[in-house]
Amino acid sequence: MKPFFITTAIDYTNGAPHIGHAYEKVLADVLARFHRQNGEEVFLLTGVDQHGQKVQQSAEREGIAPQEYVDGVTAKFLALWEKLGIRFDGWAATTADKHKECVRAILTRLWEDKDPATGGSRWIYKAARSGHYSVRQEQFLTDKERGPDGEFGPEWGQVEFREEENYYFRLAEHREWLLGLIDTRSAEGKPFVIPEFRVVELRNAVEKLEGDLCISRPKSRLSWGIEFPFDPEFVTYVWFDALVNYLSFAPGYDPAAVRPPEEFLHLWRTVIHDIGKDILIPAHGVYWPVMLKALGFTDAEMPTLLVHGWWNISGAKMSKSLGNTVDPDMLADRYGSAALRYYLMSDIATGRDADFSEERLVQRHNVDLANGLGNLVNRSLNMTRKYREGSPNQVVIPEDFSAHLAANAAALSEYSRFMREGQVQAGLERLGDVVNRANALVDASAPWKLAKDPDQAERLDGVLTILILSARTAATMLLSVLPEAAEEILRQLALEPDSLAGEIAPGLPEGYRCGEPQPVFPRLELPAPPAA
Ligand code: ME8
Ligand code: MG
Repeated sequence: MKPFFITTAIDYTNGAPHIGHAYEKVLADVLARFHRQNGEEVFLLTGVDQHGQKVQQSAEREGIAPQEYVDGVTAKFLALWEKLGIRFDGWAATTADKHKECVRAILTRLWEDKDPATGGSRWIYKAARSGHYSVRQEQFLTDKERGPDGEFGPEWGQVEFREEENYYFRLAEHREWLLGLIDTRSAEGKPFVIPEFRVVELRNAVEKLEGDLCISRPKSRLSWGIEFPFDPEFVTYVWFDALVNYLSFAPGYDPAAVRPPEEFLHLWRTVIHDIGKDILIPAHGVYWPVMLKALGFTDAEMPTLLVHGWWNISGAKMSKSLGNTVDPDMLADRYGSAALRYYLMSDIATGRDADFSEERLVQRHNVDLANGLGNLVNRSLNMTRKYREGSPNQVVIPEDFSAHLAANAAALSEYSRFMREGQVQAGLERLGDVVNRANALVDASAPWKLAKDPDQAERLDGVLTILILSARTAATMLLSVLPEAAEEILRQLALEPDSLAGEIAPGLPEGYRCGEPQPVFPRLELPAPPAA
């Protein structure tokens, strides 16, 4: 079986984590758990982006050393991931020596890869340049970045005129190769970027690609970065540093080896980068594949980009300057991390944007989990205990009930297909179908009436069996999203989950006896509005 290697963006450590950071990490965790549940070898890499001008400025504002500042913020991210149950296998913190050495080894290798015709590096050159520079985005701006009024818009923040020498990484000459890669991958049905509507956006950007990437910053104005191995006057541009995390923290990568070791490649061939839409162009869609190409990666070894959308606030972008950022740590404390994870996975379609709403968070939990799944488990167990002392008689499932089980099996396999595509919301809708179908069977068959009629004894056994099997299938589909709640349900059912690969069981195991029901999803309430 193929392994599954998923990475997330590494978050800037220039402020506290927000709901967008939490969403991306929960998404990766859920997909990793799904693949683990399916018996695959899984590696989830996440971490923090600790260098760059913004971090240096934040540290200066607080009057502390940048390392002390990033250590403090990093601790907040780590504590949040622990609280949200993010189970990662690798932690990428870019001030780690291992990472700095890898970035330096990569720069050295590219610098020493000489073009025999010119004697210079095939990938990196030094040049002087003057122009407008965005401090916020840490990049030189071209006329393309000017707005319709000829000015640089507010998204660039403070823009200064600068003149300086720097090192550049050749990008533009790889445009045709990159377009070819994008097209071939789409033609092969394994798009470079998913969801596929983003491919068009990337393609358009690559067609307009011109100029090379400035990968150094003079130490005179930015010292908080990885020192250039062959020129101590410079540090590495934060994006060139950050992207390398996917290699430096991957098991078995060796920057010096012309071909990376098989231990690394066997995972890497499956790599998926879970990132937000704002960092597709140009960082992950342009810089990164060209960097990989420079390091000798073949076209078949290029990653897949799983691009998610944004959580907005009343349709507007969430930002620290607007003061509308949502704090996931507070939400987890107020509602529990399960409710937060469920909301983040069920109320947005991967790739699309959604509006964050605390009301929706509470509503989703109460409707889908407390009233839906929780109620199904509770009444299935209660009726089974009341009418059959926990052990329904083994009956041949009647024809109309077999159809019910076949529909559950179809839902489970659709769920698996959606999860493989990263479409967790769609997967959870199938879970909802299983729950609704079972709850509808309770209403339609009225087991409390069947229990009074001796002629209906077999039918009652059949209904109870279907309800318990349905709760099991629902719990199977919940395992990756809410592992603890799903395991608790399975414990109460006294059943193992269904296999994700095979058929679902046609009946209960020999000698089956269910457990005792206990509330798994207590109803949530919004905090009372402040008294007038
Ligand atoms: O971009 N909704 O870090 P970052 C959903 N360090 N996702 C959001 C979001 C929102 N409102 N806001 C941000 C960086 N994100 C770089 C990454 S990777 C080698 C370096 C996502 O802290 C954003 O799209 O600004 C990105 O994927 C991640 O959070 C980190 O953003
Ligand atoms: Mg950002």
